[in-house]
Amino acid sequence: MKIVIVNNAKDVGERAASLVAQATKERPNLILGLATGKTMIPFYRGLIKLYRKKKVSFAEVKSFNLDEYIGLKSRDKGSLRYFMEKNFFSKVDFKKENVHFLDGRAKNKKRECENYERQIKKSRIGLQILGIGRNGHIGFNEPGSSFKSKTREVFLSESTRRKKIPRKALTMGISNIMNTKEIFLLASGREKAEIIHRVLHGMISEDVPASVLQKHRNVVFILDKKAARQLEEG
Ligand code: GLP
Repeated sequence: MKIVIVNNAKDVGERAASLVAQATKERPNLILGLATGKTMIPFYRGLIKLYRKKKVSFAEVKSFNLDEYIGLKSRDKGSLRYFMEKNFFSKVDFKKENVHFLDGRAKNKKRECENYERQIKKSRIGLQILGIGRNGHIGFNEPGSSFKSKTREVFLSESTRRKKIPRKALTMGISNIMNTKEIFLLASGREKAEIIHRVLHGMISEDVPASVLQKHRNVVFILDKKAARQLEEG
């Protein structure tokens, strides 16, 4: 595992954005796995900035988002699809048909998940972007999720459910995340310091979903100083 430590949350996003831009230059038809959450805002801003300077194009890039809440329409302001449209897709040259999302309103959730699973098997994700929850969740794979888990319907933990967000979601599983070729995990702020320490130095356990990344061949942790503050202590 590689660890990059930068000054602040904005730099985490900008460093990740410039690494992604470089990857799309080397592989114009890269398949990206994308994430949501506040950590991702400076990342998408960074990508938009590079796009405006013509340093990156997404015309041939495909994407698969990690997760979506159950029951929300894609136009609903609380949906993760809306987050992506507002913060990224509407501002760059991504083609609509290249954007893949789990449909939280699908009548048959099982079939929706199986369908997504089939698509990510066919077009293996080349670069997966991850944030992390304070309890170590990745995507919406909460503590206790099997390392073999696939795309499925899940219940969200109390700590993940802020304010009025739904109780259930669809998420790519841990096995799907582990099957990606390369992963960037982004974390910023002191509230992530403890979990980052556990993920990097603790035991690999399903109680800390992100600890599975110790077994991935190609992961870069991009952290700000606050999120990395417990690492020197070993
Ligand atoms: C949500 C998302 C995760 C994200 C996490 C952290 O639960 N499903 O993909 O990593 O939140 O979010 P934040 O960056 O807002 O701390």
